Amino acid sequence: MVPLQILTISLAVQLYLCESSIEANSQRPCWMCDVPHCKQCVASEWTPWNQCSSPCGMNGYQSRTRLVYRPPSCGEKSCRNLTAKEWRPCNRFCHNGGTPARWACTCPPLNYIGDCCETAILGWSMWGIWGQCSKSCGSGVQERMRVCVASPPFNSSVCGSVCPGPSLETRDCNTHLCTVKYDSLGCFRDGSPRSLPVLLKSFRNNIDWNNMTKVVHACAEIAHERGFSTFGIQFYGECWSGLGANKTYDKHGPSKNCWSGVGKKGSNYVYKIKV
Ligand SMILES: *[C@@H]1O[C@H](CO)[C@@H](O)[C@H](O)[C@H]1NC(C)=O
Ligand SMILES: *[C@@H]1O[C@H](CO)[C@@H](O)[C@H](O)[C@H]1NC(C)=O
Ligand SMILES: *[C@@H]1O[C@H](CO)[C@@H](O)[C@H](O)[C@H]1NC(C)=O
Ligand SMILES: *[C@@H]1O[C@H](CO)[C@@H](O)[C@H](O)[C@H]1NC(C)=O
Repeated sequence: MVPLQILTISLAVQLYLCESSIEANSQRPCWMCDVPHCKQCVASEWTPWNQCSSPCGMNGYQSRTRLVYRPPSCGEKSCRNLTAKEWRPCNRFCHNGGTPARWACTCPPLNYIGDCCETAILGWSMWGIWGQCSKSCGSGVQERMRVCVASPPFNSSVCGSVCPGPSLETRDCNTHLCTVKYDSLGCFRDGSPRSLPVLLKSFRNNIDWNNMTKVVHACAEIAHERGFSTFGIQFYGECWSGLGANKTYDKHGPSKNCWSGVGKKGSNYVYKIKV
């Protein structure tokens, strides 16, 4: 009885015999196979590598593919085919002495630009950053530079024609008024030796006669910058101070020869900077 039962089942599945190479000759029904129902994967040849995505630089990739198919067996009809894809970097190099970096080439400064430093520069470089302002307040100047670049195949003999304009640019900076504060000490006679020995600056060519405060302000600023604490204005627009000025400013006595916060000829209107 038992052998007959096995035969019946075997007939029912005989079209779907084990198909792995090991078991191909065993003639055993599928449900007795030792391997999974689908045959092992079969892979086609790889296609050739396709074109690199970039001719140079640090971003190039290329790929190739192959088909991985799984022939049906043991009655399974749903074996899925797969596409396998493989990537590799390619053309990873820099031109013109560039250094490979993470995402792009680091190009030699000024001479070349581009992802792979492939483009030579001919003409002005970018402006450099603005330099330090000559004053911290009360309107100073600062400058920035650029250079004419002619990288091979050009040479510097062409700079004259391809780099018009200046290589140096200046602009005003810190134009806000200084906040130097000062107190008035009064009007004093000058003499010999001078009670304020150093002429810091003369504003005589640039006096706003409607507002003498501007001269006093500017003088205070200069005196402060030079480290003096006492200063005076003489002859409407001359800014005087000096070492020891805080002791000598009144040595020739008081004067009435001042006007609008400044001294006239021969007198100083003297101020003391607040600390
Ligand atoms: C899987 O690939 C094989 C070989 O190219 C092909 O004969 C079969 O029809 C494919 N099967 C499916 C489900 O696409
Ligand atoms: C620079 O280039 C000019 C024209 O391209 C050429 O006449 C000249 O000889 C070159 N000078 C040098 C030093 O290579
Ligand atoms: C005079 O100049 C000072 C400093 O520039 C300014 O603060 C002030 O407002 C001016 N006064 C007048 C009346 O214009
Ligand atoms: C005068 O100023 C100097 C520094 O410039 C200081 O050492 C000295 O104490 C001051 N003298 C007076 C009387 O304020």
